Amino acid sequence: MNHDNDGPLAPEKVDEVIAGYPNKTGDVLSILESLQEMHPLKYLPMETLALVAQRKGLAPSRIFSVATFYSFFNLRPQGRHTIMVCRGTACHTRGSSLLMAGLRSESGAEYDSGEESFTTPDNELTVRTVACFGQCALAPVVSVDDDIHGRMTDMKLRRRVRELIRKEQNDENSKS
Ligand code: FES
Repeated sequence: MNHDNDGPLAPEKVDEVIAGYPNKTGDVLSILESLQEMHPLKYLPMETLALVAQRKGLAPSRIFSVATFYSFFNLRPQGRHTIMVCRGTACHTRGSSLLMAGLRSESGAEYDSGEESFTTPDNELTVRTVACFGQCALAPVVSVDDDIHGRMTDMKLRRRVRELIRKEQNDENSKS
């Protein structure tokens, strides 16, 4: 499924956000946060970063270094849904690798150059790993769009992915 709104944000929208933050340098973090939140694919396109630099009268490298320093900023499009898989010791022992393998095969994503996190080419799903959810007694633990699920199994997780993708397709169909 392709989306026609995955490029840079419209300059008017960027200007609107910037207008709310008149401080020249101190507000950059808040501006980038708002812009990322506003983007349908929850990321900061390079063109948007360049525009922020231009509007604030700052060097593009300065804006770029803020965006790369904080891990909560995404420089690549994110999926509409995010699944986080715990890779801590307890979850690893109880099969988190199997969950990751299941997610890759269910979403049709290639295992990418040793990088565990991935986003499917259709931007429906982003899979990430975390060090520990602090819920080790419930291992293996995953979160699906911020809802934590303990004692996850490969089958349950695959079913959940199919439900998410089906819901997204139904939503798209009802719009067209
Ligand atoms: S190791 Fe997975 S929740 Fe702690």
